Amino acid sequence: MRLCNWNRHKILAIAETMPFKLNQLFIYVVVWGISLVSGGVPLCAQDSGTGPVAAFTPSAARGYQLLTTKPYLPPDFDQQVFDELWKSWPKDLRNQARDATPAVRRQLAFTRYGLIESPDHPGEGPAWGYTPDGQGGWVMNCLSCHGGQVNGKATFGLPNSNFGLETLVEDVRATKIRLGKKLTHMDMAQLGMPLGSTNGTTNSVIFGVALEAKRDADMRVLKKFAIPVMQHHDLDAPPFWNVKKKSRLYYDGLVKKHHRPLIQFVLLPRNDEKILAGWENDFRDILAWIESLEAPKYPWTIDTALADTGRTVFNQHCSKCHGTYGERESYPEKIVSLDILGTDPVRLQALKPDYRERFQHSWLSNYNTADPVWLPNGYLAPPLHGIWASAPYLHNGSVPTLWHLMHADARPKVWKRTPTGYDQQRLGLEISTSDTVPEGLLSGDRRQYFDTSKASKSAAGHRFPEALSEDEKRAVLEYLKSL
Ligand code: HEC
Ligand code: HEC
Repeated sequence: MRLCNWNRHKILAIAETMPFKLNQLFIYVVVWGISLVSGGVPLCAQDSGTGPVAAFTPSAARGYQLLTTKPYLPPDFDQQVFDELWKSWPKDLRNQARDATPAVRRQLAFTRYGLIESPDHPGEGPAWGYTPDGQGGWVMNCLSCHGGQVNGKATFGLPNSNFGLETLVEDVRATKIRLGKKLTHMDMAQLGMPLGSTNGTTNSVIFGVALEAKRDADMRVLKKFAIPVMQHHDLDAPPFWNVKKKSRLYYDGLVKKHHRPLIQFVLLPRNDEKILAGWENDFRDILAWIESLEAPKYPWTIDTALADTGRTVFNQHCSKCHGTYGERESYPEKIVSLDILGTDPVRLQALKPDYRERFQHSWLSNYNTADPVWLPNGYLAPPLHGIWASAPYLHNGSVPTLWHLMHADARPKVWKRTPTGYDQQRLGLEISTSDTVPEGLLSGDRRQYFDTSKASKSAAGHRFPEALSEDEKRAVLEYLKSL
């Protein structure tokens, strides 16, 4: 018998009905009794999928509700700080904000930081990626990176390819200092590590590496810990609607699909192992919501005859890695080695074998010690549902359109997107290009440029479409609109 969540919730519920002193005694006796029977008091250790926990039925609707209403972290800032951010902006933008109405000023801020209005309460309260804490605080949630817009329309499960996290944190810190407010975890973290040097991408994997180093395998917070090796690099988040097709998570298939890896995002030390274990059902619901999502449909016209030709070409050249679509769906879930793939290696190399081993032996991977894929040699070929919508492409977000993905030699060295423009010819972000990033930009402006010459940002590789003629490429692009 284990002191699992399920048991603990029941015990606490009974205890709550008792007078204070009696309930302490009751909990003490029950815990002592359980430890006698079980020979120790393990938390709900390996989630075997059997026993009381299996009786829990995850709910997608509850998952979305939890994501958008329950704060799992302390607030990043409050409404007053948000309303004052414009005073830290570069001069021209600041002047524009000074003369604007509060609604227009909010829009300017949303554009600067790539924030998206929540479809649940547009125009008021926190952005979609932030949960209100009930006291005016904005608490970062999964949708800050995983809730995006395409052609200006908020879309469930689409990565937020506009998010300017680092610029937001810089401005928040400056504003808090000006207002004499306390700095919090993100304000401090950014002093020690980059959060995302190009808008739309974040150093998320290294946030996880840094936070996990402070815990043992059972998620107990350590008093003493070694600073881990941190190879900083930015990633474009993958779209959520493909998760239901996958049996493994993350770009290199790091871990078998389970709700526990999702908890990585809330590993601040204040959330100790007991709190995390108490949230397992929440994250089962959140995973259920993720798996309930469908890719958005291409909203403009598709030339169906050309797309049909494209399907044949795709099935000859691409489906062995990316699967087939339509009536007979298949997905091979292949990890393609980097020698064949040739895309940027840093994401793969940044997770060192000792980190991977620790992860695999921890609560976060559900103690999946027998996992044969713990040391992958490349990246997973993703399903391509809704691929028209999820630009930019490749794991590091280095390729702005599908046309560029199909024409490796024409990929831009440096590109900058418009805030919400969609390129219907090349399928992806509307961009301008250059050979280098202009000199002398302020950091917030510099992060609007994707510079493929920087470490971890290469747009090389995935040259498989070269086997196709120009007509075949055009047909495949038309077909990709229909997935
Ligand atoms: C700061 C940005 C950010 C936040 C916040 C964030 N994620 Fe992610 N997420 C990412 C990135 C980047 C990846 C890709 C990581 C990789 O594969 O190496 C990712 C990957 C994932 C994946 C794997 C998807 C796949 O197809 O393999 C899941 C599932 C996921 N995140 C769920 C969540 C949940 C749930 C939360 C909130 C509790 C969350 N994420 C918060 C950036 C973020
Ligand atoms: C040998 C396996 C393989 C073949 C063949 C292949 N791909 Fe890929 N593809 C991959 C892998 C692996 C990735 C992920 C690379 C990365 O993110 O670094 C990928 C990425 C992509 C992406 C970007 C996905 C995203 O979400 O960013 C698109 C689009 C794509 N491939 C289309 C195609 C098309 C079209 C063809 C056929 C002309 C094709 N691929 C052939 C393995 C393959």
